[in-house]
Amino acid sequence: MVSRRAQQLTANPPPIAVAHFQAEARPYDPVRDPDGYLNLGTAENRLLWDVLEPRLAGPRPVQASDIRYALAYGTAGFRAAVAGFLSRSRAVPVAADDLVVVSGATAALDIAASALCDPGDFIVVPAPYYSAFDTDLCGRSGCRLLDPEAIARTVRSARRDGAVVRALAFTSPYNPVGHVYRPDELRALLAVAAELDLDVIADELYAHSTLDGHTFTGLLDVAGDGSERIHTVWGFAKDLGLPGLKAGVLHTLDPRVRSVARELAYFAPLSSDTQALLEWLLTDVEWTGRLLDCSRVRLQRSYAHVSHRLRTHGIPHIPAAAGFSVWADLRAGLAEPSFAAEDSLRADLFDRARVNILPGAIFGSPEPGWFRICHTTEPAIVSEAVERIAAVVSSAGRGRR
Ligand SMILES: Cc1ncc(COP(=O)(O)O)c(C=O)c1O
Repeated sequence: MVSRRAQQLTANPPPIAVAHFQAEARPYDPVRDPDGYLNLGTAENRLLWDVLEPRLAGPRPVQASDIRYALAYGTAGFRAAVAGFLSRSRAVPVAADDLVVVSGATAALDIAASALCDPGDFIVVPAPYYSAFDTDLCGRSGCRLLDPEAIARTVRSARRDGAVVRALAFTSPYNPVGHVYRPDELRALLAVAAELDLDVIADELYAHSTLDGHTFTGLLDVAGDGSERIHTVWGFAKDLGLPGLKAGVLHTLDPRVRSVARELAYFAPLSSDTQALLEWLLTDVEWTGRLLDCSRVRLQRSYAHVSHRLRTHGIPHIPAAAGFSVWADLRAGLAEPSFAAEDSLRADLFDRARVNILPGAIFGSPEPGWFRICHTTEPAIVSEAVERIAAVVSSAGRGRR
């Protein structure tokens, strides 16, 4: 018999993870397994292995301390290396002492939320803003995905109903839509958070994964006085193409949150050996710089490819400024404008076309029919998947007429 708490905690496994493991259990191969799954549901950058492999497979210094217990919240050397790396892309330098290292950005988010909230408290998370779905508007103007006024209205109304709202959490670059917040948008957000007395959790996991013509600005870079209420998450999963190493950091200037986070890191520490490996990688500033440059070039090429394939098949999508995915409009494939129809399209794509892409419902999309398509994998896989998506969407469309 398992405990009620365990049952509660495991009752709703993240749909992203469920679909990922199902698809990865039987990957598509044109020769060995043409009935396998084309997985465009997982935001992994699979385009960097040829650059990473020689480095990871080559010799590296190993010390006894790499296999011993280390500080749960990260060795001094590793935190200094991460601080140096993050400082190079930010206006405000990051200090090693303000970092709490844990096993992945997921754990960093969990710790930030646990440090700030009691059970039953709320964190307000903006869903993709409705007007962002208007492709023309978004494509030309870089639409507002996060309306600070809407946040203020939501929080005030929740508080009137007795809810304790502690924080606002958002991602920039914005997963799944691919927007990068401009400094003026970030300032507007901080002003509302200050007015509403909210902490802000900023997930900046894709900070270095911007596309041509777009620049990332860290929330702390525009913060000024309110910095203690900002808790930033970053990790190695996206920008450095190392998701399986599960390395993440929480940055906070609030001494109480930091102290609690250091203690909570006890439950999700990153292995000493992985810290040593990543410290060794990061301290080679030239190599890290080359990796990031190469990643941006390939990311841009991959985005151009998926974008072209989607356009060729008449599938609209929001132009992306960063990240590994596009937010695609598959409303033409819905039997009716409902989330039930969206889920049925998802199931058709998965079971019939053997394509794994994630439906908007799991991102809290306000409108059914939008899907996140991750493209940072072999171009041939992307082409094949888009062709199958287009076939399912158009056959569903024909069925309705
Ligand atoms: C915005 C965002 N935050 C956090 C995570 C989880 O990162 P990690 O694998 O380091 O736990 C992901 C992974 O997809 C992500 O996209």
